[in-house]
Amino acid sequence: MEANIVLLPGDGIGPEVVDQAVRVLEAVGQQHGHRFNTSTYLIGGCSIDRYGTPLTKEALQACQTADAVFLGAVGGPQWDDPLAAVRPEQGLLELRMGMGVYANLRPVRVYPGLASFSPLKAEKLHGIDILVIRELTGGLYFGQPRGREMVDGHTRVVDTLVYYDYEIRRVIELAFRLAKGRRNKVTSVDKANVLESSRLWRQIAIETGSQNSTVTLEHMLVDAAAMRLVMDPSRFDVLVTENMFGDILTDEASVLAGSIGMLPSASLGDGKPGLYEPIHGSAPDIAGKGIANPVGAILSAALLLRYSLGLDREAVLIETAVEQAVSTGYRTADLNGTCTTSQMGEVIIEKLFIPLDREETRSST
Ligand code: IPM
Ligand code: MG
Repeated sequence: MEANIVLLPGDGIGPEVVDQAVRVLEAVGQQHGHRFNTSTYLIGGCSIDRYGTPLTKEALQACQTADAVFLGAVGGPQWDDPLAAVRPEQGLLELRMGMGVYANLRPVRVYPGLASFSPLKAEKLHGIDILVIRELTGGLYFGQPRGREMVDGHTRVVDTLVYYDYEIRRVIELAFRLAKGRRNKVTSVDKANVLESSRLWRQIAIETGSQNSTVTLEHMLVDAAAMRLVMDPSRFDVLVTENMFGDILTDEASVLAGSIGMLPSASLGDGKPGLYEPIHGSAPDIAGKGIANPVGAILSAALLLRYSLGLDREAVLIETAVEQAVSTGYRTADLNGTCTTSQMGEVIIEKLFIPLDREETRSST
């Protein structure tokens, strides 16, 4: 097949990890007769520096008409002034909204050999396989009104948590659909004891649950969910929640895997191009050193093949190659390893070309 992929490497370690993901995509493409045409645009701080805006109209348009979009990371200390009129993160939010990708999938699993890097005791890690689905285009991130004003000599600020019923329903329905291909369990996370938006969320979860009786539905308050994620993470299968809760819970869940550098994400809308990005940020402290972990980006490339191009077999090949590489000791500095970013990419590509049944012989010789 032939596919057009827009690359948005962004800031910090973004370009370094995107390079490796693209190498892996090209290797898989060569192996299986696919052609991936890429075009590259700026996003975030680098786009502010060049064009004065974190996402140009041209870049957004290219993304909207591509088959899939692959992003590295945005942001950095030089653009962090809280009073600045434009911020790198605005580019990412505009992109998510402009592409209509309302569901952000963040799978969390623990790779064999990495248990010792998790802050949790090894016995708690057994069987962790969580798919967090975060609502991505609503809630506090986009609600109006927002801003600051002077009232009676005091600065007053406002953000708005707003949801329409259809925005909640479509993401919860997706959670049920995906749970059916997994362990048939959905945990819907809200704050229904306090928030109006959460009461509607819970009501829609109950309605959707009653139409999907083969799936077990549970409700959990977000504070309790934060606790259960570290107390008993293997109890979760699919966890679905609103935008801000999902942002917070996925950083928490990511460390279960040993390093935030391992985690991929896919953002999907209805039949539109998907947006794929590792969940780590721009990591300005290690940018340009060639030591960033490219695995989150490479696994995001696997998700791109699966969800946007329907190439599930190729996605599994990448995931298996990553597992082989990591569990045979190839790791970057975040996991106490000595591999550089590009060595990690190379090893994963090498593993792609080793037939699975020969892997054992090969790695033991
Ligand atoms: C994420 C990030 C973004 C978010 C930031 C960079 C705007 O934390 O993708 O989780 O809050 O959504
Ligand atoms: Mg986040």
